Amino acid sequence: QTKLNIGLFGFGVVGESLWQVLQNNTSLNAQISKVCIKHPEKERNAPKELFTANPYEVLSDDSINVLVELIDDANAAYDIVSSALKSGKAVVSANKKMIAEHLPELLALQKEFDAPFLYEAACCASIPVIRNLEEYYDNDLLRSISGIVNGSTNYILTKIAEEGLDFTQALKQAQEKGFAESNPTLDIEGTDALNKLTILLVHAYGVVSHPSELTYTGIHHLEEHDAQYAREKGYEIKLVAHAHKLDNGKIAAFVFPQFLQKDNSLFHVKNEYNGMIIESGLADKQFFNGKGAGGFPTASAVISDLSALRYNYRYEYKKLYNQSPSKLTNDFYLRI
Ligand code: HSE
Repeated sequence: QTKLNIGLFGFGVVGESLWQVLQNNTSLNAQISKVCIKHPEKERNAPKELFTANPYEVLSDDSINVLVELIDDANAAYDIVSSALKSGKAVVSANKKMIAEHLPELLALQKEFDAPFLYEAACCASIPVIRNLEEYYDNDLLRSISGIVNGSTNYILTKIAEEGLDFTQALKQAQEKGFAESNPTLDIEGTDALNKLTILLVHAYGVVSHPSELTYTGIHHLEEHDAQYAREKGYEIKLVAHAHKLDNGKIAAFVFPQFLQKDNSLFHVKNEYNGMIIESGLADKQFFNGKGAGGFPTASAVISDLSALRYNYRYEYKKLYNQSPSKLTNDFYLRI
């Protein structure tokens, strides 16, 4: 079994968790041999000689056969990932923003360089939603996906509803626990959920779109009277990402805060957990639930990608078809 010799980009919450897991894991036969970071002066819980601030030291190292990209700068991430794919390295990434914004280019690169590129950690952290959509569900039978895909906002909404925390305190906690993005407006304003929905659309329906084509709102417009209304009615406010096949075959897709009632499985998803309801023709309604943010839950998805590389797993994008943006529609939302 060839050793997975990993070059890691980023040593934040997820990167450090991955490092720790791989230190204690022998069954994967994987080792992080270099870590590229932006701030070399920072104290880290790993040997100094592991780190470099020079990306080319990692990218040009032929002994490194897998690149794991876990940084937060989406533009830098795109440069790193595309260079690695061009040089034939396998790539695992958790960078939902980068993937959502560059899907067409990344698809072309994978095709041209026949390079494995996996990103299960980019959506819903520990819930294996991408691989399930990709492999299990038939495009034509898939009716809808509806999910809580951002852990930080769900954590904030839970803390406000259950412990009476104010927004700022709840956000601070989500940041301290390592759930929030380094720029938390991405969580709060709904763009992180939007990026994840853009990726899910590819694997659910074969729709390649850009996040800017979808309608979304985050939780930043919610007011105290919304929370009050939810309390009075026994509802939960949740930030829901949704895609739905319309009768005319078009796909409606959007991210909005919604009032949910008890009979909706997402109602019961609390704190940093994510949840996903998938409705399909034969299976009817299924519900996935699991930790959607944080170091180890996200590292768990990265590890699953690393082990999938072992059996040459690739997304086949078998459902992909040429999809003009006009196919995406907000008709569904506008009609309700
Ligand atoms: N900030 C993201 C979230 C991290 O809260 O869901 C996981 O993608």
